[in-house]
Amino acid sequence: MTDITQSLREIFDTRLKENEPMSKHTNFRIGGPVRWYVDVKSEEELLFVLNLVTKENVPWFILGGGSNTLASDEGFQGLVVQMAMRGITIVGDRVTAEAGVLSAALARTTAEASLAGFSWAISLPGTIGGAIRGNAGCFGGEAKDYLVSVRALSFVNGVWETKDVPMEACAFEYRESAFKHSGDIILSATYLFPSGDREELLASQQNHLASRKATQPLYAGSAGCVFKNTDVPDETVLQRLRQEVDIPLEMSASRKLSSGWLIDQLNLKGTRIGDAEISQEHGNFIVNRGNATASDVVQLIALAKTRARNHFGIALQEEVRYLGF
Ligand code: EPU
Repeated sequence: MTDITQSLREIFDTRLKENEPMSKHTNFRIGGPVRWYVDVKSEEELLFVLNLVTKENVPWFILGGGSNTLASDEGFQGLVVQMAMRGITIVGDRVTAEAGVLSAALARTTAEASLAGFSWAISLPGTIGGAIRGNAGCFGGEAKDYLVSVRALSFVNGVWETKDVPMEACAFEYRESAFKHSGDIILSATYLFPSGDREELLASQQNHLASRKATQPLYAGSAGCVFKNTDVPDETVLQRLRQEVDIPLEMSASRKLSSGWLIDQLNLKGTRIGDAEISQEHGNFIVNRGNATASDVVQLIALAKTRARNHFGIALQEEVRYLGF
């Protein structure tokens, strides 16, 4: 059997971390030690790691920016691969970003280059790889907008191979994509952006940043929104809800309820378990008030789900990813 530590050490040298606390790598600032942790800076490094873990049957987890991940207190007896490929290529209106590029960096760089279409992401935490996988969105934009194709690694007949996935094959929906289910690993994304006015784009980004700061608890560790917003296609569920609360017009019309608003209606804001708290500012955020554990957070998630189901008949679905549970 290969000595996994030694093989990783040969390639990554001091970049290999052993028993690395995930609390250092998640925006929640929560998570126990993982057996091995590496940041990959090239496709070659990533392939080396994947071939190793596949051959040695080691559990592995691909981490983007750590913004949407809840890591367990016990940690993970496997390898965490942090995507640190951060190249951006701009040729005219065609932009290719590697998976580890921060969404906010791509938003700024494209705005500086007078390209519109990704400006909304200035306040989006995490990487492009993560944003595409979960089709992240805010302020009316989604990661899929203006996307042409995604380059990905796919495990086929025992071999990792690269492939180009055209936009039409990515099966994007609200917070959904084919990558969430296929196990393919996103390497890079290519966009074709419309041109825009540099000054206007940069000014609108300042507005987005201010608006996010005004409505979301950015001062504390969190994973952004914990739950997806909730589709309520069934009119009877909406009618039952209307007997108890006034549903804002926009949500009523779209039949999509803000889960933050729902949790607010359940009077759960400010509820605390240990050092984890349902944010006073936005009901869909759970914040780490200092020394929260993953167990505290999981119990708050369970509480919100139970209350939403019992009180409104609505099944909240997590947007956050779990590691090591
Ligand atoms: N609202 C409340 N109470 C709350 C939270 C919200 O009454 O505690 C009301 C707001 O006043 C507003 C409505 O609900 O009238 C919608 O709220 P908001 O504009 O904050 O949007 P959201 O639907 O709750 C979504 C995304 C956010 C994104 C914002 C802004 C999801 C799950 N959330 O939230 O994304 O930042 O829109 O565009 O789709 C994330 O995914 O991590 C995230 C934070």
